[in-house]
Amino acid sequence: MSNQGPLLELDGIVKRFGGVLALDGVSLTLERGTVLGLIGDNGAGKSTLIKVVSGAYQPDGGRIRFDGQQVRIVNPRYAKTIGIETVYQDLALVDTLDAAGNIFLGREIVRYGAGPVKVLNKHAMQRSARELLGRLGLELPSSGTEVGMLSGGQRQSVAISRALYTRPQLVILDEPTSALAVTEARKVLEMPRTLVAQGVAVILISHTLQDVLDVTDRIVVLRKGRKVADLDTGATDLEELVTYIVGSERTRGAGYA
Ligand SMILES: Nc1ncnc2c1ncn2[C@@H]1O[C@H](COP(=O)(O)OP(=O)(O)OP(=O)(O)O)[C@@H](O)[C@H]1O
Ligand SMILES: [Mg+2]
Repeated sequence: MSNQGPLLELDGIVKRFGGVLALDGVSLTLERGTVLGLIGDNGAGKSTLIKVVSGAYQPDGGRIRFDGQQVRIVNPRYAKTIGIETVYQDLALVDTLDAAGNIFLGREIVRYGAGPVKVLNKHAMQRSARELLGRLGLELPSSGTEVGMLSGGQRQSVAISRALYTRPQLVILDEPTSALAVTEARKVLEMPRTLVAQGVAVILISHTLQDVLDVTDRIVVLRKGRKVADLDTGATDLEELVTYIVGSERTRGAGYA
C-alpha cells in the first residue's frame, strides 16, 4: 500500500455496448478519505462507470490506478481483493436470514470445520455483526430478526455492513436512498461521512442533488458518456448542477471539462 497520492485515478475510460458509446473517455480522481458524487441523467453512464471500477465490466479503453498501482480489475472478486466494495441498489440480501447471516453469507465463521458437519460459530458472527453495524452507528432489533422484516434504511445498513467486513479502502454506493422515506434516507446519508471518518473513501451515485451537495467533497457530472463537470462541492449549487446535467449551451467557466 502506498498511502500517498489519490486512491483512485481513472484515465480516459471507454466502454461500448454494440453501437452505444456508454463511456467516452472518462477521467476522474478520487482522493483518499473523501466522498465523490457521481451524477447525471438516466443513461449518462454512471452505473457503467462504477461497474468498470467494481470489476463487473471490462473497459474497452483507458487506464485505472488504484492505491498507487496501475490495475486491471478483471472481476468483482479481484476488486474486493484490492479493497473496492460496491453496494448495488437492489442490495442482494437474503430476506430469510438475519443481519449476521447476511453479513457473513458465503464466509461463515466455522467452529468445527472437520468432516462434513460444519458448526457455524453463531456467537462470533453475532458479535462481529454488531461491531460492524456499530461502526456505522447502528443498532438492529434483536439478533435473529429476518432482514425481510427490517425497514429499507436498516436493510441498507446491513448491506453496507456486509461491504465493510473486508475492510475496504473504497465503498461505492449506487443510489442508496432511492427507495427510502425521508427520515430513513437522512440516516443512510450519514453513512458516507461515517465511513470517511474511518479512512474509507466513498463514491456516491444519486439523483437527489441536494443529498449529493450535502454529503460529498467533489461532484463529477456525466452526460451522454462524457464528463462535463468536475466540481468542488463547496463551490457549486443546485442550479449549476442542473445546468450541467441537462446540458445547457451556456458556457460555464470554472470546472468545465
Ligand atoms: N449491459 C448493457 N448493454 C447494452 N447497453 C447498456 C448496458 N448497460 C448500459 N447500457 C447503455 O449504456 C448507457 C449508459 O447506461 P448506464 O446504466 O450506465 O446509465 P446511468 O447513468 O447509470 O443511468 P440511470 O440513472 O438510469 O441508472 C445507456 O445508453 C444504456 O442504455
Ligand atoms: Mg444507473
